[in-house]
Amino acid sequence: MARIVVLGNIARDEVIHLDHRLREGAHLQGTPPAARLGGGGANTAIALAHAGHEVSLVAAVGTDPLADELLAELSRYGVDIGPVTRISGPTTRSLVLLDPEGERTIVNLTRARESRSPRRLLDLGADCVYVRSNGQNLAGLLREKAALCPIVAQIRPLEEGHLPVQILIGSHGDLDTRFLADPLAESRKLAGDVLRWVVITHGGEGAEAFGIGGERLRATAPDVPVVDTTGAGDSFAAGLTHALALGLDMTQALPLAVRWGAAKVSRMGSFLDRDAVREVLRESTGRSSPNRP
Ligand SMILES: Nc1ncnc2c1ncn2[C@@H]1O[C@H](COP(=O)(O)OP(=O)(O)O)[C@@H](O)[C@H]1O
Ligand SMILES: [Mg+2]
Repeated sequence: MARIVVLGNIARDEVIHLDHRLREGAHLQGTPPAARLGGGGANTAIALAHAGHEVSLVAAVGTDPLADELLAELSRYGVDIGPVTRISGPTTRSLVLLDPEGERTIVNLTRARESRSPRRLLDLGADCVYVRSNGQNLAGLLREKAALCPIVAQIRPLEEGHLPVQILIGSHGDLDTRFLADPLAESRKLAGDVLRWVVITHGGEGAEAFGIGGERLRATAPDVPVVDTTGAGDSFAAGLTHALALGLDMTQALPLAVRWGAAKVSRMGSFLDRDAVREVLRESTGRSSPNRP
């Protein structure tokens, strides 16, 4: 298995199940909030650890007791929390409003944010790095790291700084029309010459990938019952990172990632649990095999 470093956040999700779809001005009924571990970095790191990888999480938490609770849970899943730093103040918390169709709306409540670029990333040996981080200037750091291993990073607005990485991924719903009109050109502005692929997810429709050599790939999502779309993009990213870390090419990695995303939406939770990861791994065996061990 591979050594994977994840840069992203750790949060407590407080989930409210709504009786109807969210609508402006509506008066809805919800369940009392139920707490669970979440956050983009944690969701991806846990799924990758469940797949058997050696995963280190570079993140920031607060100095409250909640931080200890979340870190203990991450450790139990086998995620290396050594590179997690503590920032004076509260740990990140998000409200997750889950409608009867399984679609989620997220409201950020508090955020533990590292103001400086997490240079410790450079000290961590990795076969592949996954980045889901906003607000920090990561350009110099990622440029150095991308010279050593492939990096998969979530697309973010150019105003938040360059992302010199080989693979960018983003969700259709989060991208503006200008980006979607020419994903490669827009991604080049963000990543520069190191860019190889841009991957865009389309919810229940699956995902597509655009290669700098003009390749265009599509993978359709299996038809699954949707119960909770929280963490779909994070699980997709875990599947893609898993495949690329094992040396699969994009034609194999894309359909695999789509299955990891679909597996997540068909289950409750912010991340794929161990059984779910085992199941997607079993499903994938036979469909594709790694190019190198
Ligand atoms: N309704 C769905 N049915 C099957 N798979 C889904 C569904 N919604 C999401 N997925 C899977 O999760 C991936 C990411 O979902 P998407 O909604 O695009 O991202 P995000 O979680 O960022 O909103 C999709 O590419 C797909 O693999
Ligand atoms: Mg979605």
